[in-house]
Amino acid sequence: MSLNIVIMAAGKGTRMKSALPKVLHKLAGRSLLQHVLDTTADLGATQRVVITGHGAETVENAVAGPGIAFIRQMPQLGTGHAIQQVAPILPDSGSTLILSGDTPLISATSTRQLVEACDGKNLVLLTIAYSDPTGYGRIIRQGDAVQAIVEHKDASLEQRQIRECYTGIMAAPSASLKRWVGQLNNQNAQGEYYLTDIVAMALAEGVPIIGIKTSNETEVLGVNSPLQLADLERRFQRSQAISLMEAGVRLADPARFDLRGSLSCGQDVEIDVNCVFEGQVSLGDGVRIGANCVIRNASIGAGARIHEFTHIDGEAQGVKVGAGALIGPFARLRPGADLGDEVHIGNFVEVKNSTMAKGAKANHLAYLGDATIGERVNYGAGSITANYDGANKHRTEIGADVHIGSNCVLIAPVVIGAGATVGGGSTISKNVAAGELSVARGKQVAIAGWTRPVKKR
Ligand code: UD1
Ligand code: MG
Repeated sequence: MSLNIVIMAAGKGTRMKSALPKVLHKLAGRSLLQHVLDTTADLGATQRVVITGHGAETVENAVAGPGIAFIRQMPQLGTGHAIQQVAPILPDSGSTLILSGDTPLISATSTRQLVEACDGKNLVLLTIAYSDPTGYGRIIRQGDAVQAIVEHKDASLEQRQIRECYTGIMAAPSASLKRWVGQLNNQNAQGEYYLTDIVAMALAEGVPIIGIKTSNETEVLGVNSPLQLADLERRFQRSQAISLMEAGVRLADPARFDLRGSLSCGQDVEIDVNCVFEGQVSLGDGVRIGANCVIRNASIGAGARIHEFTHIDGEAQGVKVGAGALIGPFARLRPGADLGDEVHIGNFVEVKNSTMAKGAKANHLAYLGDATIGERVNYGAGSITANYDGANKHRTEIGADVHIGSNCVLIAPVVIGAGATVGGGSTISKNVAAGELSVARGKQVAIAGWTRPVKKR
C-alpha cells in the first residue's frame, strides 16, 4: 500500500527571532527538519513531501535529496491550508502520514505505529496528556471514542480542562484526506484553515478514528523559541548519553557531554566533562578522553589517551590516531593526520595531512604539515615544516630514528634520511643523508673583553 509522508515546514517561527527559517535551526548538529527526514527515511514511503513557505528556497536547498519533493505554501493560512497544497499530488489510495518540521524528535516507533494503525482506512492521531495543555488542540472524546479536536483558542472553559492534546502528528487515508481538506473553512478564532477540523468530518462519515497516546513528551515537543530549542537539545543529549552509558561508556557527567553525530565506543572508554563529538567518531577499547576536548570525524585506536583541551578535526578526510598514542593537552590534529601506534603529540603541536609511524614524537610547540615521519622520530620543540611556498604545498620526508633538534625549519620539499640528526636552530633547505648530522645556523662566537653599555647620567 502506498505511503506518502508530508512534513509541514512553512511556518515563520516568529519566536525564534532569527533570519534563519525555524526548521533549519540545529539540534545536535542536524537541522530540525533533517531529523524528521532521517527518522522517516526507512518507513518505505513512496514519496516524502516537505511543505515550505518562509525561506522556502533556503529550506529546500538545505534538505534536498532523492525521494524528497517540495510544495510551496504562500501565504500560510493554517495547517489545513498547508495540506490543501499537497492534496493534488497525493494518490487516491494508501495512507498519508503528516509530521511537523519543527517537531524533530518524533520516534521511528511512533511513526510506524501510526502508519500501521491507519492502514489506508482509519484516521489516526498521536496524542499526549500534558499537565499544562495551554495552547494545544484538545482531544474531545465521548467515552473512549474520539469525536473532534478543538483548538485552545476555540475551546470552551470546560474543554480547556481536558489534558489530552493533539501532538500535530496524524496518519490519514489519502483519498479521504484530499476530500476533507477541500471542505475546510476558516470560521474560527484564528481565521485559519485548521487541519484538525477533519476529525469531525471523519466522525460524520463513520471513518474509524484512533487516538494513539504517547507518554514520551520529548518526541512530540515542538521548537518555537531558542529556550525550547535548548531544552530539547539537552533532552536529546541526555538520551544519547544514557544509551552510551548503558553500553558501558563511562561519562564523567552525562549533563556535560555533547554528541552531534555518531560515536562508536569499545570497552572501558572514559570521557571526562565538556567534550564535544561531531560527525563520525570511533573510540577503541580503553580510550580515555580528557576534559574539554572537541573531536570531529576521527578514529582513535585502543588505549590511546587524548589529554585535556585537545582539538581534533578530520573534516572530510578524517584523522586517525593509533593504539596507545598520547595526544595533548592542547594539541591540534587536522585533516589527514594519520598517527601510528604509540605516537606522542604534546602541547601546542599541530599536525595536518601527515603520517607519523609507530613511536614518533613531537612533544612541544611544533607544526607538521604534508610530512611523512618514520618510526621513533623525535621532532624537537618549536620545529616546523615550511610546507607552503606561497603557491604550492610540498612534502617533507623524515626517515626512521631521525632526531630533529629544537626550533628547526624544514623547507619542503626536503628529505631527511633515516637515523640523521638535525642540529637545533637549523634551517634545512637541502636533503640530509642518512645517519649524518646537519647544522645550518650562524656559528657561536665569543668576544673577549666585551662590556655591556652603561646608562648615561
Ligand atoms: C497545531 C495543531 C494543534 C496541536 C499543535 C501541536 C492545528 C490547527 N492545530 O497547532 O491542535 O496541538 O499543532 O503542536 O493544526 N504550518 C505550515 N503552514 C501553515 C501553518 C503551519 O506549514 O500555514 C506548519 C508550521 O510550520 C509547523 C506546523 O505546521 O511546523 C504546526 O503549525 P503551528 O502553527 O505550530 O500549529 P499550532 O497552532 O501549534
Ligand atoms: Mg505549534
